[in-house]
Amino acid sequence: MTQKLKLAIIGGGSSYTPELIEGIITRINILAVTELVLVDIPVGQEKLNIVTDLAKRMIQKSGLNINIASTLDLDSALSECAFVITQFRVGGLKARGLDEMIPLSFNMIGQETTGAGGFAKAMRTIPVILSIAKKMEQLCPDGWLINFTNPSGMVTEAVLNHTSIKSVGLCNVPINMEMSLAEELEASPEDLYCEFIGLNHLSWIKKVYLHGKDITESLFNDSKKRESVVANVPEVEGAEKFVASLKLIPSPYLNYFYYENHMLEEEKESVASGKGSRAEQVMKIEEDLFKLYETPELSEKPSQLSERGGSLYSEAAMSLIESIHTNSGKIHVLNVLNNGAIKDLDDKVVIETNCIVTSSGARPITTGPLPPSIKGLVHSVKAYEQLTIEAAVEGSKTKALLALMNNPLVHGADIAQNILERMIEAHSEHLSYLK
Ligand code: G6P
Repeated sequence: MTQKLKLAIIGGGSSYTPELIEGIITRINILAVTELVLVDIPVGQEKLNIVTDLAKRMIQKSGLNINIASTLDLDSALSECAFVITQFRVGGLKARGLDEMIPLSFNMIGQETTGAGGFAKAMRTIPVILSIAKKMEQLCPDGWLINFTNPSGMVTEAVLNHTSIKSVGLCNVPINMEMSLAEELEASPEDLYCEFIGLNHLSWIKKVYLHGKDITESLFNDSKKRESVVANVPEVEGAEKFVASLKLIPSPYLNYFYYENHMLEEEKESVASGKGSRAEQVMKIEEDLFKLYETPELSEKPSQLSERGGSLYSEAAMSLIESIHTNSGKIHVLNVLNNGAIKDLDDKVVIETNCIVTSSGARPITTGPLPPSIKGLVHSVKAYEQLTIEAAVEGSKTKALLALMNNPLVHGADIAQNILERMIEAHSEHLSYLK
């Protein structure tokens, strides 16, 4: 008799879902998923229907026997679930647009996961993820929450410190950085080992080993240009000189910190030229994607999905689930509680680093102290993240202001205060809990 293996995807109507379906289909011999439930909220019903129909066609084409359903009822979806994948966006792309445009109107970086935009997204998302995890405590207490919802590090930290649910945070940046380095070295990804240190969307590759040999030093030549590994973060001309002195390979998101003015000008230029904010660009990509998804002849993930920033997301998520389910002991780069892995950070904060994954969880591999060149930045972003989580859990406006003031991309208490008020007003449906 086949053993039951039930997965639920929260935010099932997302355009990324076909990517996950593809990952489930290609792994079925190792990870025998028997039941898949796509869950969404009423406002996402139409998208959910379109995505579910496409997912059904994909599964039918593969000839596999996976029971797939969609629902707006979270409780029934969570019941007896082994893995719950979260990929929702509270307030949708409209809210993302505000997260990007409000800081920009104060002449500050407007980005969905960093700066004041990332803060507002965290404040909308943390109460929702906590209510989902609390439901899991009742309905599937042994289930794993695999979180891709941004800001992934903070959202995972909230779950791990405020509920009893086992959770791992995911991001597609590390896997993209590894793949692109393998390509640069003309090596197979299996022959390469990259050691990551830092936080989500604030991480660096610290060491690179090829066939077990440390080749890190050879990678820093100031004429070596590296392209951004994600579609949504542009690269900065001339950054290779700085990277050569840093001797760490930064995530593309570090551009917002290292080249703040440049990135700010790019964002303003994008809006002024009519190309629009990233949210507006994604709205257009999504419109086309959903038209395609509706085509009855389509029964595979379309290549146009690669215009989104989340490429290789499915690979990251499904290979992680496989490692937990099969007790593989493989190494994945994940967002987990520090527990001593980075010596100079608290045990209970979430970091992004290499972890050994078994069915008992993801254990971070000790990486030592933070190099002095990144220590200050990591500490201030972590202080901002901790204060943001506290503000969301306590519903405290005072803490929210302190959080914003600790964000290195927000400048000045008066401006932080004004941004906070504007954010609360603009996102009143989701932020009015702040008192
Ligand atoms: C990157 C990030 C993801 C994020 C995505 C957004 O890849 O790592 O965390 O969700 O970009 O892409 P989008 O196409 O929505 O701008």
